[in-house]
Amino acid sequence: MKKPKLFDFDTLVERRGTASMKWEKYKNQDIIPMWVADMDFRSPPAVIRAIQQRTADGVFGYTLTPEDLNDRVVSILQETYDWSVKPEWIVWLPGLVTGLNVACRAVGNDGDQVMTAVPVYPPFLSAPGFSRRSLIKVPLKEKENRWQFDFDRLEQMITDNTRLFILCNPHNPVGRVYTRSELVQLAAICNKYDIVICSDEIHCGLILDKNKVHVPTATLDPETADRTITLMAQSKTFNLPGLGCAFAVISGKKLRHLFKKQMAGIVPRPNVLGYAATMAAFTECDDWHAALLDYLRGNLETIARAIRQIPPLTIAPVEATYLAWIDMRSSGLKSPARFFEEAGVGLQDGIEFDGPGFARLNFGCSRSLLEKALARMTAAMENLRG
Ligand SMILES: Cc1ncc(COP(=O)(O)O)c(C=O)c1O
Repeated sequence: MKKPKLFDFDTLVERRGTASMKWEKYKNQDIIPMWVADMDFRSPPAVIRAIQQRTADGVFGYTLTPEDLNDRVVSILQETYDWSVKPEWIVWLPGLVTGLNVACRAVGNDGDQVMTAVPVYPPFLSAPGFSRRSLIKVPLKEKENRWQFDFDRLEQMITDNTRLFILCNPHNPVGRVYTRSELVQLAAICNKYDIVICSDEIHCGLILDKNKVHVPTATLDPETADRTITLMAQSKTFNLPGLGCAFAVISGKKLRHLFKKQMAGIVPRPNVLGYAATMAAFTECDDWHAALLDYLRGNLETIARAIRQIPPLTIAPVEATYLAWIDMRSSGLKSPARFFEEAGVGLQDGIEFDGPGFARLNFGCSRSLLEKALARMTAAMENLRG
């Protein structure tokens, strides 16, 4: 029998002094950073090896996308999602936020409207304005302990100028993996009103709930595929966001042309190391990936247990991502994130996601660090209650 490989997610990797965005925020302060979405783990050994091999060449000239990488993306999308993609549909990008902003500029005209469901990852809220579009925010509703689309409200809020819906699936910060039937309903509305969908699927490799599967929006049906810009990367799953490598899949010829036109002369290609890491992540990291998901599931159980001990805080089930969206509305705290920061835990305030009264906790870290943070949060809440 093949022995499962062991990977070490427990050892604390010292990130202080490495210009890490996450850790520098609380430089010289005893605050555990649990905000921006990167993990404290080392990337898979195969990724590190691939980068080392590439740097050993010592030549870092302009690079084309390696042909075998496009082929690999095509075969992975086929195997994983039964999604038949042509290599020419793939557009490489230095990041998904770039892709979101390019999508906003590529669809419609100045003054048009872009719709999204809130709370959501902050660049969804800023990209329309940066692109001279206005933003329509449709609140997700909480039903049966799950965050869901409010389709009636969504449809009512569409106007003649609504051109684009930016979808986050899996959804950061609420942790939902939308079901096929939810996506079909959303796509039907977008098809009805001729709205393009930009589907950010960066978290698709981080499905923690074993009863859920990720359904790429573009696989629903040919009409939806033609109006969808899918954004993906290996960066969240394999902890490579500093390497700047992502891609869009756009099957619609006209839409792809408009997207590329907005990129022209402005958006650089990914760099050689980003490509090398992405290729390794796609080819040699399945064992690491499985071990990561198990570890994150353990972290999630640890959080759920701790939060149950500190009412009135609650979390909805996290179906995907390593981000817990904590409901602190009943706590009476004016600024929950600041309160916990003072207690030594750096969460991200819900206000940034259009979710006041909530805070997001990044649990992509070693169990011992997580337990330390949760102990601080528990003590702070107990103190508050007196
Ligand atoms: C939904 C979503 N999209 C995009 C990004 C960032 O993408 P990138 O670093 O490739 O710009 C994140 C990072 O947290 C995210 O959660």
